[in-house]
Amino acid sequence: MCFKGRLKVVVVVMVVVTSTLTSAQQDNLQAIECPFPEGQEVSSEEECHKYTACQWTEGRCHMTDDRHGGYLVGITEETPRGYRVNLEKANDKVTMFGGDVTQLVFEVIYHESYHLQVKIYDLAQARYEVPTPLYLPESPDEEHLYDVGVQPEGEPFNFNVTRKSTGTTVFRSMGPLTFEDQFIQLHTWLCSTYLYGLGENTHLSFRHKFNPRSTFPIFARDQPVGTTPMNEYGHHPYYMVMEDDDGNSHSVFLYNSNAMEYSTYQLEDNTPALTLRTIGGIIDLHFFLGPFPEDLTIQYTNMVGTPAFPPYWSLGFQLSRWGYNSTQGVREARERMKIMGIPQDVQTCDIDYMYRHRDFTYDPDNWGDLPELIQELHNDKLKVTLILDPALVIDFDNYPPSSRGKDSDVFIKWSDINLVPDDQDPAADNYMVGYVWPDNKTVFPDFLKPETQTWWNNEIKLFHDMLDFDAIWIDMNEPANFGTNLEKPWNWPPDEPAWSLKCPDNKWDNPPYPTMMIRVGDNQSKKISDHTICMSGNQTDGDKVYLHYNVHSLYGWSETVATYNALKEVFPDKRPVVLSRSTFPGSGQFAVHWLGDNSAEWSQMRMSIIGMLEFTMFGLPMVGADICGYFNEPDMEMCARWMELGSFYPFSRNHNAQDTGAQDPAAWPEVAEISRYTLNIRYCTSLLPQFSSHKGVAHMHGHSVVRPLLSVFPEDLAGRDVDDQFMWGDGLMVAPVLTQGATEREVYFPQALWYNLVTGEKTASGPATITVEAPLEVIPLYIKGGRILPNQVPALNTVDSRQNPLGLTVALDGNKTASGDLFWDSGDGEHHMSTMYMSKMAYYQDELTTRIMHGEDTVAGLYIDNIDIYGFPQDPRDINVNNVTIPTEDWNFVADRQVLSITLHAPLGESLNIKILYDESP
Ligand code: GLC
Repeated sequence: MCFKGRLKVVVVVMVVVTSTLTSAQQDNLQAIECPFPEGQEVSSEEECHKYTACQWTEGRCHMTDDRHGGYLVGITEETPRGYRVNLEKANDKVTMFGGDVTQLVFEVIYHESYHLQVKIYDLAQARYEVPTPLYLPESPDEEHLYDVGVQPEGEPFNFNVTRKSTGTTVFRSMGPLTFEDQFIQLHTWLCSTYLYGLGENTHLSFRHKFNPRSTFPIFARDQPVGTTPMNEYGHHPYYMVMEDDDGNSHSVFLYNSNAMEYSTYQLEDNTPALTLRTIGGIIDLHFFLGPFPEDLTIQYTNMVGTPAFPPYWSLGFQLSRWGYNSTQGVREARERMKIMGIPQDVQTCDIDYMYRHRDFTYDPDNWGDLPELIQELHNDKLKVTLILDPALVIDFDNYPPSSRGKDSDVFIKWSDINLVPDDQDPAADNYMVGYVWPDNKTVFPDFLKPETQTWWNNEIKLFHDMLDFDAIWIDMNEPANFGTNLEKPWNWPPDEPAWSLKCPDNKWDNPPYPTMMIRVGDNQSKKISDHTICMSGNQTDGDKVYLHYNVHSLYGWSETVATYNALKEVFPDKRPVVLSRSTFPGSGQFAVHWLGDNSAEWSQMRMSIIGMLEFTMFGLPMVGADICGYFNEPDMEMCARWMELGSFYPFSRNHNAQDTGAQDPAAWPEVAEISRYTLNIRYCTSLLPQFSSHKGVAHMHGHSVVRPLLSVFPEDLAGRDVDDQFMWGDGLMVAPVLTQGATEREVYFPQALWYNLVTGEKTASGPATITVEAPLEVIPLYIKGGRILPNQVPALNTVDSRQNPLGLTVALDGNKTASGDLFWDSGDGEHHMSTMYMSKMAYYQDELTTRIMHGEDTVAGLYIDNIDIYGFPQDPRDINVNNVTIPTEDWNFVADRQVLSITLHAPLGESLNIKILYDESP
């Protein structure tokens, strides 16, 4: 091994050595299963021995122990930011699928005090590493919240990470490390069962389960939402564990983009455990030490990139559907919304606007007056989002976007000219050809390539010259391809001879361990290329060449970056809005995300909350599901309840599939009325100013917007299991009704005073679980005592609502105090600290004061016209606003609800002081 004899003394000081396992502990490890490519059910003793790394004990096929199957610790060397330890494969004959890397490096890299990186990679040869940018500090902090321990030299390798302040071991690798060319596997003990995150999957609960064992794949895939473990659109190998009752929490990011899977299970002694498997790249782990869940979101997003700052209009309600079928269809839906007085800020058009489903075109027959329609919508103060798919038709002679793309050589190629299928159209050169929505075969832009960015900028600019859109929706960007490896795509023209993209039989398209993804969801060809393009494609960033096998899950991310940059050129003074289906860590800097093709089912409505909370963890806080469901048809009740919930999705869009009935909120009179009410609460009680404040802070610091209860109340154990309620920021709790026929629901209130947001009545003094009334027209909403939330009179769109008077809702805590802040800016374009309005509000000893930090000019013309104080003890004698006593008719005290409402007209840009006097203490 190299580094022989160097720096030993330093190392002894630095590396915390952990003890080796007892034989009882080794027995415990029999729960580490041996993964069979075909699935576990086929395992038998004979089959188990097919893999020398597997061992059969009492009817179970498990990984052999680390002394045989793993690596031995070699010598250690200090590095400028940490240290490296050499590892050597213990026994060359022990393997799963062959291609074992015999000499590895385990490297510890220090970053911020709360952030540790641990890499395990091939000593001899560089392997693929994810090329997306991370924001790392230039130099490490001197103090760390953690210690790292490694087994002593000569012992089987394992390592652990410990939180210094509590001594809790937050990560403890166990069993054999497996590091083969196409199979890498690492197991860890977990210090608790409070495990959250990892995706994109649909989970039935926010908190993971360990018994029975469950395994989920991760790899970007065009896979509609379901209730079983399936890999869906994005790739987010990031999890959080809450360690103890005090709420100390850490998170771990496996920075790897290859196909992977994870298993949660229990060891023999019931210790919770996690196995991570990936079929390429290296092990690159980032640990964040928080200590609290909200800190983790900030720390993680500061490394992968803090979320985009959305323009204010994108926080408004958005309407979409596939199947308007004509401009007339859009006009009818829009007219219904207007007649019913339902707020709307965005109208979206799906692929039916296109001519033969070709990007950058519009259908001259049914959508011939699309430019005029867009103008009408703009006149109505709406914005317009248009969809684009990445796959472009190979009709190079008649379709200029493709021919210009070919001239710039922007499409994904086969990695070897010999792989080009014999029947490939010669005009398609060595590009990989597939078939998606257009009525002709397609090629796929390589968005990693700099030339592609230039070409895409130009196409989007030309498109905008033709259609005056405001935002772009990028769909099918896993990338999706229909019928891969099958006889023909499901939508192949019936009169054409059958054809489909067929992937070669090689180590990339038929890897030895394809992960469980080939057995789940709609994977008809049982290959990892099912529903997408072949892994044997080549992509390049102009510097390095990458196999699609490695960068597949980056496709959506790369298209998002390219589209964001293109929109920046088209609208230099605006904030780009890109709605992307496929995402990767870092996508949140550029993208809004919706949770994909769900169904009009009550269970999926509920699961959308879990998806939303997970994407918040992943750094994509601007997220929501298709309200009222994409597939199938909701009934009135379901759509009403879903509009109630969706009014509190950060990204609030009603969208449905072709050949389903209209489900816009105006499609039923009852839903229309309920939607008008709940969207008015979104716009008004105006969560929008509040939400915009959170989005601003999210962008600047990485805070989350919608939060699980556990991130606001980390010490509340009961709250850690709540995933049918959520918080907006830390002051407002949303408890939607998610059950058919229900007119009440149980709500869990963590420790605090809680008031009904709408009526101001005190509902609970937590911790408490209370059954609350919730007839169809009611979504239970609560404000936490101690918070001041801004609000604004609603309007039919945000252009108008932004001009309206503001108000403050002051919810007093048990000490009769409250605080809050308000952030306001131009709502679009570059945001500068100097022009941002920021004020801090505090209520203490019967006095409310606002203190303006900066940006007075930005709020010229805006006034605070009312203040509601919840939990106020008695009718005041006098109220002084800025030292002037106001007439008694300017306030109203409702004694039975303890709500004091004050009317005033105070410029938002000036400090405000309100003193409330009453005769005697109540
Ligand atoms: C995909 C999208 C869906 C869209 C459809 C047609 O299935 O997920 O939202 O309506 O394609 O473009």
